[in-house]
Amino acid sequence: MKNICFVVAMQAEAQPFIDRYGVTEVPDFFAPLPCKLYQVQLVHTTLNVVLNGQQHGSDLVGCEAASVATMAAIQRLHPDIIINSGTCGAFKSNGAAIGDVFIGNAVMFHDRRVPGDDAWGTQALGNYPVYAGAVKIANDLGFKLGKVTTGSSLDMQPCDLQIIQENHGELKDMEGAAVAFVCSLFSVPVLFIKSVTDLCDSGAETFEEFSRNLAMASQAVSDANAKVIDYLAEG
Ligand code: ADE
Repeated sequence: MKNICFVVAMQAEAQPFIDRYGVTEVPDFFAPLPCKLYQVQLVHTTLNVVLNGQQHGSDLVGCEAASVATMAAIQRLHPDIIINSGTCGAFKSNGAAIGDVFIGNAVMFHDRRVPGDDAWGTQALGNYPVYAGAVKIANDLGFKLGKVTTGSSLDMQPCDLQIIQENHGELKDMEGAAVAFVCSLFSVPVLFIKSVTDLCDSGAETFEEFSRNLAMASQAVSDANAKVIDYLAEG
């Protein structure tokens, strides 16, 4: 692939990756949007890293900012693939551990409860397509596979858990399905690379566990991103 674009929510999640590749910021590329572009030309591939950007002095996490960043990235950069890379929660009852890296094999929302007929329910859950090569990448590179479920909160309410369990969700994040929604509109393939900062069923306080493991998990996802870039650049 000649043009790869990562969409990442938090600067801390992207920093080891930015440092590794020496991608440099293209100032005001997306102005007046908050998202930020970092770019570098590799031997065979243009590597773009788009961050959601900031508001009120903190990184913009969540679906709205991820949708804006993904749409701007697709329209301005015309990537061959969008890779949503970052951190996530997971479940020790599924065998997940802190620092594990997963490739997403499916993606949906877990906090959109819309009463009505099947059509509303289908739309609410999302269930967007993911890159057809995702399973092969995970198998070839030795990553775990998991279903990404997305909601707008870091914590998990019982109604979220119910939807996650009913739909066999494994990875809990705040952006994946929004990124996939936009990619589906433009028929751009989307791949998820997620590392685990916290276990939703550990009994620990989520924000504390997330914060404690953020640097380590961001390093793990950076290492995984590099392997996937090499893999895709060859293809
Ligand atoms: N990102 C990292 N951990 C998360 C969690 N538990 N829920 C949502 N997004 C996350």
